Amino acid sequence: LSKVQLFSQLNEHQLNAIASICMKRTFKVGTVLFHEKELGDAFYIVFTGSVKIYTSSSAGEEKILTLAKAGDSFGELSLIDGKPRSASAQTLEDSTLLTLTAKNFLDLLKNHFDISLCIMQELCQRLRDTNQHVYDLTFLDARTRVIKNLIKLANKNGTRQGNVISIRMTLNYDELSQMAGVQKPILMQVMRDLNEKQILAFVGQEMRLDLAKLRGG
Ligand code: CMP
Repeated sequence: LSKVQLFSQLNEHQLNAIASICMKRTFKVGTVLFHEKELGDAFYIVFTGSVKIYTSSSAGEEKILTLAKAGDSFGELSLIDGKPRSASAQTLEDSTLLTLTAKNFLDLLKNHFDISLCIMQELCQRLRDTNQHVYDLTFLDARTRVIKNLIKLANKNGTRQGNVISIRMTLNYDELSQMAGVQKPILMQVMRDLNEKQILAFVGQEMRLDLAKLRGG
């Protein structure tokens, strides 16, 4: 728990108290944890693995809002404002999650200002990210959006060796294009082009990116 950003200010005694009210559960890849518009009853912390947070159109198209990986948390909005889930959540790989009931989560916020502040900071960051995404969709062309999204993914999920970043791929092409906010053929075209310029390569399950060259475009 000490590795979870939300709980980083707490002492061992407080962490133990939280551990005793968390439930640890393992979910197979592809498990939908909850759907958008359902009532929220739990708060989630990713212990291992990763989860995609997404919204869907009535035609069944998806838009990924964010990826939650080890140490990240989600599911707080509906517990705080009492409204339905604002997005759906699905595991991208076999994952172990810690869950807190709505009551325990709200009690934590009441009793620990540090945790409340962390949640507020997390909400601020999400609003900033969303503003940035609106900017990108409004002002950037599709190719730049794909490149920017690859850089973001590399910075968040990659391991670095010199200029090369390796990302273990848990997303398919549909999901990558949804994240960047471009049509799949455009994503494929940009990735082919980057591959020809030796900026991007696939090695087994890993995508390798030359970050210095990628920033140059
Ligand atoms: P909740 O609405 O309870 O359920 C869906 C969760 O997804 C939500 O709480 C947040 O934790 C998370 N979420 C929703 N929208 C975003 C977003 N734009 N960026 C990051 N996380 C989000």
